[in-house]
Amino acid sequence: MIPTRTLGTGGPAVGALGYGAMVLEGYYGPAAEPDGIATVRRALDLGMTLLDTADAYGNGHNEQLVAAAIAGRRARAFVATKFGIAFDPAEAATEVPTGWGFPLRISGRPDYARRALAASLRRLGVDAIDLWYLHYPDPAVPIEDTVAAMAAGVRSGRVHHLGLSNVTADQVRRAHAVHPIAAVQFEYSLWRREAERELLPTLRELGIGLVPWAPLGSGFLAGAGEALDADDFRRHNPKFVGANLTANLARFAPLSALARELGATPAQLALAWLLHQGPDLVPIPGTRKRDRIDENAAAARLRLDDEHLARIDAIAPLGAACGANLVGDR
Ligand SMILES: NC(=O)c1ccc[n+]([C@@H]2O[C@H](COP(=O)([O-])OP(=O)(O)OC[C@H]3O[C@@H](n4cnc5c(N)ncnc54)[C@H](OP(=O)(O)O)[C@@H]3O)[C@@H](O)[C@H]2O)c1
Repeated sequence: MIPTRTLGTGGPAVGALGYGAMVLEGYYGPAAEPDGIATVRRALDLGMTLLDTADAYGNGHNEQLVAAAIAGRRARAFVATKFGIAFDPAEAATEVPTGWGFPLRISGRPDYARRALAASLRRLGVDAIDLWYLHYPDPAVPIEDTVAAMAAGVRSGRVHHLGLSNVTADQVRRAHAVHPIAAVQFEYSLWRREAERELLPTLRELGIGLVPWAPLGSGFLAGAGEALDADDFRRHNPKFVGANLTANLARFAPLSALARELGATPAQLALAWLLHQGPDLVPIPGTRKRDRIDENAAAARLRLDDEHLARIDAIAPLGAACGANLVGDR
């Protein structure tokens, strides 16, 4: 079993590494549902208790898949989901441009939050969601209004903790003043370290946990990059294409050599580095493969000393990756 961490000051205890279920919807290659369920269960068996999903993943399907995976295991799972990306064209929402080549429609409207919560509870088959995030802030709705609506879910007992995703430090402060925020989710890894500038210090000041999404750089830091399928979602990511990709493969190659020296895999090195950034981080690597759960979980026991950390900093300082960051850059 992997060690546990507290999500934010005095927050709930979860496994030091969680599991990101988005990959089970086929964005990064085909995923068969029975394999997905077995993978999630393996994560729980190893103590990766924080299961990350969203109503947007597979347009609701991912929450149903998580429901199937936690059947009979609810008490061991810490279920985190998100709302805010509206797929129904009839839903009033704000179009937000992204780096993916298409916009997202975002709604942080209070009435939408209420309906989204009811729908997520139904799909997940749970009485309460352990951690309920706003997936993206709605530029047309003050975050205070969205969080006040989310807080009603806590008061009614249907939500245990509130979270935010893809927010600025200022938005975190404003939201936290309305209702305590347990965790913020933001892309953070060795190829996107911008959270270190303002977001992470603010979270630490406020006692809020950071849940790094794409902790493996959407697979790049684990060795993906060279052979993505034509319909792989990551081809929309500027870091994964053309000259940027060529430069990134060269820049980050020394990390693989360091991993080999440590008797670890590149994925384990990337996850261990995140865990060494502070006890308040709970990364949520995604994989479709049961065996890789075991590999990733073992990263929680990989010790990096000061010399290793300095070498990693020299190879992959903030800004090392070529290519613009995706939506949510702050
Ligand atoms: N809040 C947000 O806006 C947001 C955005 C994106 C993601 N997320 C959440 O964060 C989670 C993680 O992010 P992510 O899935 O985008 O990226 P990630 O965890 O950085 O990388 C996932 C990729 O890494 C590969 N991988 C995992 N372990 C590996 C290993 N040991 N060796 C080799 N390859 C390995 C997986 O491939 P295989 O499947 O082939 O193993 C998969 O393609 C998501 O699942 C989602 O829950 C949140």
